[in-house]
Amino acid sequence: MIRSVILVATLLAAANCAERDQFVAMGNIAVHYMPNTAISTDDEPLTAIATGPIWCQITRNDEVIPIATSTFFKYNDAKRRMHHPEINHTTNKASLELDQIVAHGMGKYRCDITINDTESTQRTIYGNLLAYSRPFFHSNGSIKMTPEEHNPFVVIGGVQYATVGSPLVLQCPAVGFPKPTILWYKDTEVLEASDNVRFNGTNLQIENFSDEDAGVYRCTATNELPTRLDENIVQFEASLEQTVQIGSAYGWVYPLLVILVTLFLLFIIIYACAACKRYQHDNYNVAKREKLLRHQELRTPSPGSSSASTKKYELVSDA
Ligand SMILES: *[C@@H]1O[C@H](CO)[C@@H](O)[C@H](O)[C@H]1NC(C)=O
Ligand SMILES: *[C@@H]1O[C@H](CO)[C@@H](O)[C@H](O)[C@H]1NC(C)=O
Ligand SMILES: *[C@@H]1O[C@H](CO)[C@@H](O)[C@H](O)[C@H]1NC(C)=O
Ligand SMILES: *[C@@H]1O[C@H](CO)[C@@H](O)[C@H](O)[C@H]1NC(C)=O
Ligand SMILES: *[C@@H]1O[C@H](CO)[C@@H](O)[C@H](O)[C@H]1NC(C)=O
Repeated sequence: MIRSVILVATLLAAANCAERDQFVAMGNIAVHYMPNTAISTDDEPLTAIATGPIWCQITRNDEVIPIATSTFFKYNDAKRRMHHPEINHTTNKASLELDQIVAHGMGKYRCDITINDTESTQRTIYGNLLAYSRPFFHSNGSIKMTPEEHNPFVVIGGVQYATVGSPLVLQCPAVGFPKPTILWYKDTEVLEASDNVRFNGTNLQIENFSDEDAGVYRCTATNELPTRLDENIVQFEASLEQTVQIGSAYGWVYPLLVILVTLFLLFIIIYACAACKRYQHDNYNVAKREKLLRHQELRTPSPGSSSASTKKYELVSDA
């Protein structure tokens, strides 16, 4: 019979703190992604290599216990997909290389290790591991993003168009691990929530846009992470700037339409004139052709239909 006991263990918990004869999960508590830009899209996701694989092992009284099986999963993955680490039976470590797509790889993981407790029983012990990333912006491509020349973590977005009296939603698609804190600025002032201004997740909602609301909006995404275990906490930031103008994104469509309609009318007129000329020309040609035919007919009269033919030509020549 397999008995599965789960012990909550803190990774890297000092062995002397753990009670004797207790199984303890140990490992590298954290790895870091250090992306070199803040722009990521579905089509071109931001990639970086983590500072190493995440790994864990089980110890008891400073002795490393052989691993029977091991799986990892990520807490913020709704599907709870299992990851299968590589198990080194010499070092008794289970290690997992992280996805190079930062948005997929960053987060909090759980490592489960099953060991043979006695000859007929197994137990599973788990520990948590973290994969940090500074903030960046990940969008599906619906907002334009270009890095500022001198700082790739300052992103310039496109121009958004607002209609006076209508609501406007601005996105700040910031991600990172730990989850970044978002702050919105209008021109240089920090925006406060009000009847007209609402913060909804990472979005800014302006309920009733007025002339004074036009301007430059900027969101900053900030998170803090230890650069290395037990070292100083460092703050990282990325910002996205978007300009909001009153008007329509399709303002250029109307002049274009006028030009297209004019061209179309012009084309119709030209075509009509050409057709008209061709018609007159054809009429003229018909008379000429018929005359020609009649001459041929007279020279070589066809035996069966000569009388009918003659009659027809006479009508033409009368005209
Ligand atoms: C654990 O026990 C199973 C059978 O009970 C055996 O096949 C396996 O090799 C053992 N694993 C370790 C790491 O001892
Ligand atoms: C296991 O780890 C040891 C020490 O790091 C290494 O020398 C060995 O090649 C590893 N074995 C496998 C199968 O990866
Ligand atoms: C992208 O996301 C925005 C908001 O999250 C959504 O409105 C838009 O339809 C999405 N576009 C595509 C192409 O998926
Ligand atoms: C928006 O604001 C204007 C002026 O402040 C006001 O006249 C209008 O009724 C408001 N519209 C809505 C939908 O609240
Ligand atoms: C917040 O945004 C979500 C979708 O992004 C929307 O469904 C919801 O209605 C918004 N909440 C408010 C209060 O507008």
